[in-house]
Amino acid sequence: MSQPRAPFNSEMDKVIDFLNHSLRSSEGWSITAEYPLAFDPSNLHNIRIIEENGQIISHAVLKNLLIKTPIAIFRVAAIGNVVTAPEFRNKGYSQKVIKDCLQIATEQGADIAILWTNIYDFYRKFGFELAGSETALIFNQPFDTEVKGLKYLQSNKVDPQSILRLYSQHAVGSIRNAADISRYLQIPKVQLYTAWDQNNQLQAYAVEGRGADLTNYIHEWGGSVSKLLALVSEIQKQKNDSITIITPSHSANLIRKAKEKGALVNEGYLGMIKLLNTKNLFFKIRRYARFLGQEDFILEHNEHDYIVGHSGHIFRTTSEKDITQLIFGPHKATQLQSFDIETTQILEKIFPIPMWLWGWDSV
Ligand SMILES: CC(C)(COP(=O)(O)OP(=O)(O)OC[C@H]1O[C@@H](n2cnc3c(N)ncnc32)[C@H](O)[C@@H]1OP(=O)(O)O)[C@@H](O)C(=O)NCCC(=O)NCCS
Repeated sequence: MSQPRAPFNSEMDKVIDFLNHSLRSSEGWSITAEYPLAFDPSNLHNIRIIEENGQIISHAVLKNLLIKTPIAIFRVAAIGNVVTAPEFRNKGYSQKVIKDCLQIATEQGADIAILWTNIYDFYRKFGFELAGSETALIFNQPFDTEVKGLKYLQSNKVDPQSILRLYSQHAVGSIRNAADISRYLQIPKVQLYTAWDQNNQLQAYAVEGRGADLTNYIHEWGGSVSKLLALVSEIQKQKNDSITIITPSHSANLIRKAKEKGALVNEGYLGMIKLLNTKNLFFKIRRYARFLGQEDFILEHNEHDYIVGHSGHIFRTTSEKDITQLIFGPHKATQLQSFDIETTQILEKIFPIPMWLWGWDSV
């Protein structure tokens, strides 16, 4: 069987044709338009293909992200566009491609890998588990807002620097520059809605849709809670349709205010996560625990098991699933085992760590 490898520059047209044919046969755009950074020539070394007799038969792409959080900057490898040609399925090609992606992500120093899928059992074989949290705020009805004097615009022709200014205020998110945002704004079906004050300063933005996905979902947003909700109320009026804001579960103020305005709330997972470099990842979390004053906090991984707790009160598990869902949620420490009160308090102060990827970063 051919081995996975990065494509040559000269093969990229063939790779893109394969992906468009396999995954975007009814859309009027190329997959490269939908994932401009993942398929940028600078990311060619993170594409994996299997080729046989000159034909591309299996593919996946990896996009490295640096995720800023209050705890640390995490290196996250997002994996996507996993596909095998129908006539070559169930021969182990995708498994090879994914294993290779995980190996290069590990070698490149990623703390974790993440992907979005509905075939959970397929990815569980590699150690991925549903983890992290996502809250969907669903507005089925028009609602009132408290902010007056904003002007609203629906156009993608907005200076990416002003979006970046508001985006950078998020506590958690990938590190981006204006050029990245400019390219994301050109993704098919992306609709940017903005709210401006009387001095023409951007006060809030909301991005709905993204290529084949996320129609009627606001998956990127920024600005204060009240101004964002004023903007969403305006979008809802314009569309006269149900609209959903996807938010990290740590956006407590937004969630609370949206509920007050009548939003329905749906809790979900951030994605499927796999721990890669546990040494680096656990070091970052232990350092954060020390910052919180938990000098004796323990989080370790050896060849036998994972160990978590504090001096004298440790929990050992061989389950990668348990530890992934403890670190990123949604499980609480007490769902793993009945710890004493002190240990529970320590673990719940540290976990779950806030992890979030905004919609444009998925692959
Ligand atoms: C899912 C997909 C990538 C698998 O590719 P593949 O090369 O056939 O996969 P492999 O041969 O390496 O592995 C096959 C295994 O995956 C399992 N599998 C395949 N499709 C699956 C599905 N929809 N749900 C759960 N498991 C699935 C098979 O049962 C088989 O399991 P086994 O090894 O225990 O027998 C392929 O079916 C495909 O391209 N599907 C369409 C695109 C897609 O859905 N991509 C995934 C998006 S995240």
